[in-house]
Amino acid sequence: MHHGRRLVGRRAELARLLEGARPASVRTVPVVVGPSGIGKTSLARAAAEALHREGYMAYHFLIGRRVETLGDLYSMLVSSAGVLYTSLMHEALGATAARVFKALLGDGWEEQLPTAAAQLRRDIYDVLAEFFLELARDAKKRGKKGVVVFIDEAQNLLRGLGADEIWGFVKTLASLQEELPSGEAAGFQAVLVTSEYRFQQKLMRYSPSPDYVDTFYLGEMTRSDALRLYRHFRGREPGGDEETVVEHGVGGHPSLLKEVAKKWGLSYVCRYIRRIQQMVTEYMLGLAEEGSEGGIDRNEDLNNMLERLIGGPVMRTAMHAGMLAGLVERGILQYGCRAYLGIYGWNRDCSEDLEELECGGGGWCGGLDVVAPVNRAARIGIALAVGRAGEVPEPIRRLCRL
Ligand SMILES: Nc1ncnc2c1ncn2[C@@H]1O[C@H](COP(=O)(O)OP(=O)(O)O)[C@@H](O)[C@H]1O
Ligand SMILES: [Mg+2]
Repeated sequence: MHHGRRLVGRRAELARLLEGARPASVRTVPVVVGPSGIGKTSLARAAAEALHREGYMAYHFLIGRRVETLGDLYSMLVSSAGVLYTSLMHEALGATAARVFKALLGDGWEEQLPTAAAQLRRDIYDVLAEFFLELARDAKKRGKKGVVVFIDEAQNLLRGLGADEIWGFVKTLASLQEELPSGEAAGFQAVLVTSEYRFQQKLMRYSPSPDYVDTFYLGEMTRSDALRLYRHFRGREPGGDEETVVEHGVGGHPSLLKEVAKKWGLSYVCRYIRRIQQMVTEYMLGLAEEGSEGGIDRNEDLNNMLERLIGGPVMRTAMHAGMLAGLVERGILQYGCRAYLGIYGWNRDCSEDLEELECGGGGWCGGLDVVAPVNRAARIGIALAVGRAGEVPEPIRRLCRL
Protein backbone atom coordinates (compact mmCIF):
# COMPACT_ATOMS: atom_id res chain seq x y z
CA MET A 1 0.00 0.00 0.00
CA HIS A 2 1.12 3.53 -0.72
CA HIS A 3 2.67 4.99 2.41
CA GLY A 4 0.83 8.32 2.29
CA ARG A 5 -2.43 6.44 2.34
CA ARG A 6 -1.82 4.60 5.57
CA LEU A 7 -4.76 4.87 7.93
CA VAL A 8 -3.53 6.10 11.28
CA GLY A 9 -5.65 5.07 14.26
CA ARG A 10 -9.41 4.67 13.74
CA ARG A 11 -9.23 0.97 14.58
CA ALA A 12 -12.63 0.73 16.25
CA GLU A 13 -14.22 2.86 13.52
CA LEU A 14 -12.77 0.66 10.79
CA ALA A 15 -13.90 -2.54 12.48
CA ARG A 16 -17.42 -1.14 12.89
CA LEU A 17 -17.65 0.05 9.32
CA LEU A 18 -16.49 -3.35 8.08
CA GLU A 19 -19.24 -5.07 10.04
CA GLY A 20 -21.84 -3.20 8.06
CA ALA A 21 -20.02 -3.36 4.75
CA ARG A 22 -19.86 -7.12 4.24
CA PRO A 23 -22.66 -8.40 2.01
CA ALA A 24 -25.33 -10.14 4.10
CA SER A 25 -28.44 -10.08 1.90
CA VAL A 26 -30.11 -7.31 3.91
CA ARG A 27 -31.70 -4.28 2.40
CA THR A 28 -30.30 -1.51 4.59
CA VAL A 29 -28.07 0.88 2.69
CA PRO A 30 -25.51 2.48 5.01
CA VAL A 31 -24.67 6.17 4.70
CA VAL A 32 -21.40 7.43 6.13
CA VAL A 33 -21.61 11.08 7.19
CA GLY A 34 -19.42 13.47 9.11
CA PRO A 35 -17.79 16.89 8.78
CA SER A 36 -15.56 17.62 5.82
CA GLY A 37 -11.95 16.60 6.47
CA ILE A 38 -12.85 14.24 9.33
CA GLY A 39 -11.54 11.19 7.42
CA LYS A 40 -14.53 9.61 5.69
CA THR A 41 -12.73 8.99 2.41
CA SER A 42 -9.65 7.66 4.19
CA LEU A 43 -11.78 5.29 6.24
CA ALA A 44 -13.78 4.11 3.22
CA ARG A 45 -10.58 3.42 1.27
CA ALA A 46 -9.07 1.51 4.16
CA ALA A 47 -12.29 -0.50 4.46
CA ALA A 48 -12.23 -1.31 0.74
CA GLU A 49 -8.64 -2.50 1.02
CA ALA A 50 -9.41 -4.61 4.06
CA LEU A 51 -12.37 -6.23 2.28
CA HIS A 52 -10.18 -6.84 -0.73
CA ARG A 53 -7.74 -8.72 1.47
CA GLU A 54 -10.64 -10.73 2.91
CA GLY A 55 -11.54 -11.99 -0.54
CA TYR A 56 -14.18 -9.52 -1.72
CA MET A 57 -14.10 -7.38 -4.81
CA ALA A 58 -14.29 -4.01 -3.08
CA TYR A 59 -14.46 -0.79 -5.07
CA HIS A 60 -14.19 2.79 -3.94
CA PHE A 61 -15.81 5.20 -6.40
CA LEU A 62 -15.08 8.83 -5.68
CA ILE A 63 -17.70 10.96 -7.43
CA GLY A 64 -15.57 14.07 -7.61
CA ARG A 65 -18.03 16.10 -9.62
CA ARG A 66 -21.57 16.15 -10.75
CA VAL A 67 -22.48 13.22 -13.00
CA GLU A 68 -24.71 14.52 -15.76
CA THR A 69 -24.14 12.39 -18.80
CA LEU A 70 -23.54 8.78 -19.66
CA GLY A 71 -19.99 9.79 -20.55
CA ASP A 72 -19.52 11.23 -17.05
CA LEU A 73 -20.89 8.06 -15.55
CA TYR A 74 -18.60 5.87 -17.61
CA SER A 75 -15.44 7.77 -16.78
CA MET A 76 -16.44 7.93 -13.14
CA LEU A 77 -16.85 4.17 -13.04
CA VAL A 78 -13.65 3.23 -14.80
CA SER A 79 -11.22 5.90 -13.67
CA SER A 80 -12.07 7.04 -10.16
CA ALA A 81 -11.31 3.71 -8.56
CA GLY A 82 -8.05 3.33 -10.45
CA VAL A 83 -5.65 4.70 -7.91
CA LEU A 84 -5.16 1.97 -5.37
CA TYR A 85 -6.42 -1.01 -7.19
CA THR A 86 -4.78 -4.15 -8.39
CA SER A 87 -4.63 -4.76 -12.10
CA LEU A 88 -7.17 -7.54 -11.55
CA MET A 89 -9.77 -5.09 -10.33
CA HIS A 90 -8.90 -2.59 -12.99
CA GLU A 91 -9.48 -5.20 -15.62
CA ALA A 92 -12.75 -6.37 -14.03
CA LEU A 93 -14.03 -2.82 -13.89
CA GLY A 94 -13.08 -1.98 -17.46
CA ALA A 95 -14.57 -5.15 -18.92
CA THR A 96 -17.78 -4.81 -16.94
CA ALA A 97 -18.28 -1.18 -17.91
CA ALA A 98 -17.65 -2.04 -21.55
CA ARG A 99 -20.27 -4.81 -21.42
CA VAL A 100 -22.92 -2.63 -19.81
CA PHE A 101 -22.40 0.37 -22.04
CA LYS A 102 -22.27 -1.73 -25.15
CA ALA A 103 -25.60 -3.32 -24.23
CA LEU A 104 -27.00 0.15 -23.69
CA LEU A 105 -25.66 1.96 -26.75
CA GLY A 106 -24.86 -0.84 -29.16
CA ASP A 107 -21.76 -1.20 -31.32
CA GLY A 108 -19.64 1.89 -31.55
CA TRP A 109 -20.65 2.77 -27.99
CA GLU A 110 -17.28 4.33 -27.28
CA GLU A 111 -17.71 6.95 -29.98
CA GLN A 112 -21.24 7.65 -28.85
CA LEU A 113 -20.36 8.23 -25.21
CA PRO A 114 -19.45 11.92 -25.46
CA THR A 115 -22.70 12.70 -27.28
CA ALA A 116 -24.95 10.40 -25.27
CA ALA A 117 -25.49 13.34 -22.97
CA ALA A 118 -29.21 13.76 -22.65
CA GLN A 119 -29.85 10.09 -22.07
CA LEU A 120 -28.81 10.26 -18.49
CA ARG A 121 -31.20 11.66 -15.93
CA ARG A 122 -33.78 9.47 -14.38
CA ASP A 123 -32.37 6.20 -15.57
CA ILE A 124 -29.00 6.66 -13.92
CA TYR A 125 -29.91 4.03 -11.34
CA ASP A 126 -30.95 1.54 -14.00
CA VAL A 127 -27.53 1.82 -15.59
CA LEU A 128 -25.84 1.53 -12.23
CA ALA A 129 -27.98 -1.44 -11.23
CA GLU A 130 -26.97 -3.21 -14.40
CA PHE A 131 -23.35 -2.32 -13.78
CA PHE A 132 -23.37 -3.55 -10.17
CA LEU A 133 -25.13 -6.76 -11.17
CA GLU A 134 -22.42 -7.36 -13.76
CA LEU A 135 -19.76 -6.75 -11.10
CA ALA A 136 -21.48 -9.33 -8.90
CA ARG A 137 -21.50 -11.84 -11.74
CA ASP A 138 -17.85 -11.12 -12.41
CA ALA A 139 -17.03 -11.63 -8.73
CA LYS A 140 -18.81 -14.96 -8.74
CA LYS A 141 -16.81 -16.09 -11.77
CA ARG A 142 -13.62 -15.15 -10.04
CA GLY A 143 -14.61 -17.10 -6.94
CA LYS A 144 -14.78 -13.97 -4.79
CA LYS A 145 -16.91 -13.71 -1.66
CA GLY A 146 -18.93 -10.79 -2.94
CA VAL A 147 -18.87 -7.21 -4.20
CA VAL A 148 -18.75 -4.11 -2.03
CA VAL A 149 -19.02 -0.65 -3.58
CA PHE A 150 -18.29 2.51 -1.66
CA ILE A 151 -19.92 5.44 -3.44
CA ASP A 152 -18.07 8.45 -2.08
CA GLU A 153 -19.62 11.92 -2.39
CA ALA A 154 -22.75 10.07 -3.48
CA GLN A 155 -24.74 13.32 -3.61
CA ASN A 156 -22.90 14.18 -6.83
CA LEU A 157 -24.45 11.19 -8.49
CA LEU A 158 -27.99 12.30 -7.74
CA ARG A 159 -27.81 16.07 -7.82
CA GLY A 160 -30.85 17.72 -9.31
CA LEU A 161 -32.97 14.58 -8.99
CA GLY A 162 -36.25 14.62 -7.09
CA ALA A 163 -37.32 12.56 -4.10
CA ASP A 164 -38.82 9.78 -6.22
CA GLU A 165 -35.67 9.31 -8.21
CA ILE A 166 -33.43 9.34 -5.16
CA TRP A 167 -35.69 6.67 -3.75
CA GLY A 168 -35.53 4.73 -6.96
CA PHE A 169 -31.78 4.69 -6.54
CA VAL A 170 -31.78 3.56 -2.90
CA LYS A 171 -34.38 0.90 -3.55
CA THR A 172 -32.40 -0.39 -6.47
CA LEU A 173 -29.33 -0.80 -4.27
CA ALA A 174 -31.48 -2.35 -1.53
CA SER A 175 -32.95 -4.96 -3.86
CA LEU A 176 -29.56 -5.90 -5.29
CA GLN A 177 -28.39 -6.38 -1.71
CA GLU A 178 -31.42 -8.45 -0.78
CA GLU A 179 -31.57 -10.57 -3.91
CA LEU A 180 -27.89 -11.40 -4.24
CA PRO A 181 -26.22 -13.81 -4.06
CA SER A 182 -28.19 -15.70 -6.63
CA GLY A 183 -27.11 -18.65 -8.75
CA GLU A 184 -25.06 -16.58 -11.12
CA ALA A 185 -23.92 -13.65 -9.01
CA ALA A 186 -22.08 -13.13 -5.72
CA GLY A 187 -23.43 -11.09 -2.81
CA PHE A 188 -23.59 -7.31 -3.05
CA GLN A 189 -23.34 -4.43 -0.61
CA ALA A 190 -23.32 -0.69 -1.24
CA VAL A 191 -22.06 1.96 1.17
CA LEU A 192 -22.84 5.61 0.48
CA VAL A 193 -20.44 8.26 1.74
CA THR A 194 -21.28 11.95 1.80
CA SER A 195 -20.05 15.21 3.27
CA GLU A 196 -23.33 16.87 2.44
CA TYR A 197 -25.81 16.72 5.27
CA ARG A 198 -28.61 17.83 3.02
CA PHE A 199 -28.17 14.61 1.10
CA GLN A 200 -28.32 12.39 4.19
CA GLN A 201 -31.30 14.45 5.38
CA LYS A 202 -33.08 13.97 2.08
CA LEU A 203 -32.60 10.23 2.31
CA MET A 204 -34.10 10.19 5.80
CA ARG A 205 -36.85 12.64 4.99
CA TYR A 206 -38.14 10.81 1.95
CA SER A 207 -37.52 7.30 3.23
CA PRO A 208 -40.69 5.22 2.78
CA SER A 209 -39.77 3.23 5.89
CA PRO A 210 -36.94 3.04 8.43
CA ASP A 211 -35.66 -0.16 6.81
CA TYR A 212 -33.68 1.37 4.01
CA VAL A 213 -31.10 3.77 5.38
CA ASP A 214 -28.73 3.48 8.31
CA THR A 215 -26.29 6.13 9.46
CA PHE A 216 -22.61 5.68 10.25
CA TYR A 217 -21.38 8.89 11.84
CA LEU A 218 -17.69 9.70 11.75
CA GLY A 219 -16.68 12.30 14.31
CA GLU A 220 -13.60 13.53 16.10
CA MET A 221 -10.78 11.05 16.63
CA THR A 222 -9.90 9.93 20.12
CA ARG A 223 -7.11 11.74 21.94
CA SER A 224 -4.49 9.08 21.35
CA ASP A 225 -5.44 8.77 17.67
CA ALA A 226 -5.23 12.54 17.26
CA LEU A 227 -1.76 12.72 18.78
CA ARG A 228 -0.66 9.73 16.73
CA LEU A 229 -1.88 11.36 13.53
CA TYR A 230 -0.24 14.65 14.45
CA ARG A 231 3.04 12.79 15.03
CA HIS A 232 2.57 11.04 11.68
CA PHE A 233 2.12 14.32 9.82
CA ARG A 234 4.87 16.11 11.76
CA GLY A 235 7.37 13.28 11.47
CA ARG A 236 8.46 13.51 15.13
CA GLU A 237 7.18 13.59 18.70
CA PRO A 238 5.08 16.65 19.49
CA GLY A 239 6.62 19.09 21.97
CA GLY A 240 4.75 20.15 25.12
CA ASP A 241 3.23 23.25 23.49
CA GLU A 242 2.14 21.35 20.44
CA GLU A 243 0.45 18.71 22.48
CA THR A 244 -1.41 21.33 24.50
CA VAL A 245 -2.58 23.22 21.41
CA VAL A 246 -3.67 20.02 19.68
CA GLU A 247 -5.51 19.02 22.81
CA HIS A 248 -7.40 22.29 23.33
CA GLY A 249 -7.56 23.99 19.97
CA VAL A 250 -7.48 21.41 17.21
CA GLY A 251 -8.74 18.14 18.61
CA GLY A 252 -9.12 15.06 16.46
CA HIS A 253 -9.93 16.71 13.14
CA PRO A 254 -7.50 15.18 10.60
CA SER A 255 -7.43 17.89 7.93
CA LEU A 256 -6.89 20.61 10.54
CA LEU A 257 -4.18 18.53 12.23
CA LYS A 258 -2.52 18.20 8.85
CA GLU A 259 -2.52 21.96 8.15
CA VAL A 260 -0.98 22.66 11.54
CA ALA A 261 1.58 19.86 11.44
CA LYS A 262 2.70 20.03 7.82
CA LYS A 263 2.35 23.62 6.82
CA TRP A 264 1.38 26.47 9.06
CA GLY A 265 2.40 25.62 12.59
CA LEU A 266 0.60 26.33 15.83
CA SER A 267 -0.39 29.93 15.12
CA TYR A 268 -2.55 28.68 12.25
CA VAL A 269 -5.08 27.66 14.88
CA CYS A 270 -5.54 31.34 15.81
CA ARG A 271 -6.19 32.28 12.20
CA TYR A 272 -8.65 29.46 11.77
CA ILE A 273 -10.49 30.57 14.91
CA ARG A 274 -10.64 34.15 13.63
CA ARG A 275 -12.00 32.94 10.34
CA ILE A 276 -14.82 31.13 12.11
CA GLN A 277 -15.40 34.14 14.35
CA GLN A 278 -15.88 36.46 11.40
CA MET A 279 -18.00 34.01 9.45
CA VAL A 280 -20.35 33.67 12.42
CA THR A 281 -20.41 37.44 12.91
CA GLU A 282 -21.23 37.99 9.24
CA TYR A 283 -23.93 35.36 9.43
CA MET A 284 -25.52 37.18 12.36
CA LEU A 285 -25.17 40.57 10.65
CA GLY A 286 -26.79 39.09 7.56
CA LEU A 287 -29.75 37.91 9.62
CA ALA A 288 -30.05 41.30 11.32
CA GLU A 289 -30.08 43.14 8.01
CA GLU A 290 -32.54 40.77 6.40
CA GLY A 291 -35.67 41.97 8.18
CA SER A 292 -36.19 44.86 10.56
CA GLU A 293 -37.72 43.82 13.92
CA GLY A 294 -38.02 40.17 13.06
CA GLY A 295 -34.30 40.19 12.28
CA ILE A 296 -33.42 41.41 15.74
CA ASP A 297 -35.56 38.77 17.43
CA ARG A 298 -34.06 36.05 15.36
CA ASN A 299 -30.61 37.38 16.09
CA GLU A 300 -31.24 37.13 19.80
CA ASP A 301 -32.51 33.61 19.41
CA LEU A 302 -29.45 32.72 17.39
CA ASN A 303 -27.18 34.36 19.94
CA ASN A 304 -28.77 32.32 22.72
CA MET A 305 -28.52 29.16 20.70
CA LEU A 306 -24.84 29.74 19.93
CA GLU A 307 -24.16 30.35 23.60
CA ARG A 308 -25.77 27.03 24.38
CA LEU A 309 -23.69 25.36 21.68
CA ILE A 310 -20.47 26.53 23.33
CA GLY A 311 -21.41 24.52 26.39
CA GLY A 312 -22.44 21.30 24.75
CA PRO A 313 -24.30 19.67 21.89
CA VAL A 314 -27.92 20.68 21.36
CA MET A 315 -30.63 18.18 20.50
CA ARG A 316 -31.87 18.59 16.97
CA THR A 317 -35.41 19.86 17.05
CA ALA A 318 -37.47 21.41 14.31
CA MET A 319 -37.72 24.60 16.37
CA HIS A 320 -34.29 26.01 15.74
CA ALA A 321 -33.40 24.03 12.65
CA GLY A 322 -33.86 26.89 10.17
CA MET A 323 -31.77 29.25 12.23
CA LEU A 324 -28.78 26.93 12.43
CA ALA A 325 -28.99 25.36 8.97
CA GLY A 326 -27.00 28.20 7.38
CA LEU A 327 -24.09 27.58 9.75
CA VAL A 328 -24.21 23.85 9.02
CA GLU A 329 -24.07 24.60 5.29
CA ARG A 330 -21.05 26.83 5.88
CA GLY A 331 -19.19 24.02 7.63
CA ILE A 332 -19.15 25.71 11.05
CA LEU A 333 -21.75 23.55 12.73
CA GLN A 334 -22.42 19.89 12.11
CA TYR A 335 -25.17 17.40 12.73
CA GLY A 336 -23.77 14.45 14.61
CA CYS A 337 -24.39 11.50 16.86
CA ARG A 338 -23.93 12.33 20.51
CA ALA A 339 -22.36 8.96 21.23
CA TYR A 340 -19.36 9.73 19.01
CA LEU A 341 -19.21 13.49 18.97
CA GLY A 342 -15.98 14.39 20.80
CA ILE A 343 -15.24 18.15 20.62
CA TYR A 344 -16.44 18.99 24.15
CA GLY A 345 -14.52 16.16 25.70
CA TRP A 346 -12.40 13.48 24.08
CA ASN A 347 -14.02 10.32 22.85
CA ARG A 348 -12.89 7.37 24.88
CA ASP A 349 -10.06 5.26 23.53
CA CYS A 350 -10.97 1.65 23.00
CA SER A 351 -9.08 -0.83 25.09
CA GLU A 352 -9.72 -4.54 25.25
CA ASP A 353 -12.25 -4.40 28.08
CA LEU A 354 -14.10 -1.48 26.51
CA GLU A 355 -14.59 -3.12 23.15
CA GLU A 356 -18.37 -3.29 23.12
CA LEU A 357 -18.91 -0.04 24.99
CA GLU A 358 -18.90 3.48 23.65
CA CYS A 359 -15.42 4.18 22.46
CA GLY A 360 -13.76 5.47 19.34
CA GLY A 361 -14.83 8.43 17.27
CA GLY A 362 -17.50 6.98 15.04
CA GLY A 363 -19.90 4.17 14.39
CA TRP A 364 -23.43 3.11 13.58
CA CYS A 365 -25.95 5.28 15.29
CA GLY A 366 -29.15 5.17 13.28
CA GLY A 367 -29.64 8.87 12.67
CA LEU A 368 -28.09 12.21 13.55
CA ASP A 369 -29.41 13.49 16.86
CA VAL A 370 -27.48 16.62 17.84
CA VAL A 371 -26.06 19.90 16.51
CA ALA A 372 -22.55 20.96 17.50
CA PRO A 373 -19.54 22.90 16.21
CA VAL A 374 -17.55 21.00 13.57
CA ASN A 375 -14.43 20.94 15.72
CA ARG A 376 -12.79 22.51 18.76
CA ALA A 377 -11.47 25.53 16.88
CA ALA A 378 -14.97 26.24 15.58
CA ARG A 379 -16.30 26.07 19.13
CA ILE A 380 -13.77 28.73 20.14
CA GLY A 381 -14.55 30.92 17.10
CA ILE A 382 -18.24 30.79 17.99
CA ALA A 383 -17.47 31.73 21.58
CA LEU A 384 -15.57 34.82 20.38
CA ALA A 385 -18.35 35.78 17.96
CA VAL A 386 -20.89 35.93 20.77
CA GLY A 387 -18.54 37.74 23.14
CA ARG A 388 -17.73 34.84 25.41
CA ALA A 389 -13.93 35.02 25.42
CA GLY A 390 -14.01 33.52 28.91
CA GLU A 391 -14.91 30.20 27.30
CA VAL A 392 -11.63 30.03 25.38
CA PRO A 393 -9.26 27.45 26.89
CA GLU A 394 -6.31 29.08 28.63
CA PRO A 395 -3.52 27.74 26.33
CA ILE A 396 -5.36 29.04 23.27
CA ARG A 397 -6.00 32.40 24.89
CA ARG A 398 -2.26 32.70 25.52
CA LEU A 399 -1.21 31.49 22.08
CA CYS A 400 -3.67 33.74 20.24
CA ARG A 401 -3.34 36.68 22.67
CA LEU A 402 -7.05 36.83 23.31
N1 LIG B 1 -6.93 8.08 9.89
C1 LIG B 1 -6.16 8.82 9.07
N2 LIG B 1 -4.88 8.49 8.84
C2 LIG B 1 -4.11 9.22 8.02
N3 LIG B 1 -4.54 10.31 7.35
C3 LIG B 1 -5.81 10.68 7.52
C4 LIG B 1 -6.70 9.95 8.37
N4 LIG B 1 -7.89 10.55 8.36
C5 LIG B 1 -7.77 11.60 7.53
N5 LIG B 1 -6.53 11.70 7.03
C6 LIG B 1 -6.04 12.74 6.12
O1 LIG B 1 -6.77 13.92 6.41
C7 LIG B 1 -7.26 14.55 5.25
C8 LIG B 1 -8.79 14.56 5.22
O2 LIG B 1 -9.27 13.23 5.19
P1 LIG B 1 -10.42 12.70 4.20
O3 LIG B 1 -10.46 11.24 4.34
O4 LIG B 1 -10.23 13.26 2.83
O5 LIG B 1 -11.70 13.37 4.88
P2 LIG B 1 -13.21 13.49 4.34
O6 LIG B 1 -13.38 12.49 3.25
O7 LIG B 1 -14.04 13.21 5.54
O8 LIG B 1 -13.37 14.90 3.88
C9 LIG B 1 -6.65 13.78 4.09
O9 LIG B 1 -5.47 14.42 3.71
C10 LIG B 1 -6.36 12.41 4.66
O10 LIG B 1 -5.29 11.81 4.03
MG1 LIG C 1 -14.06 12.72 1.29
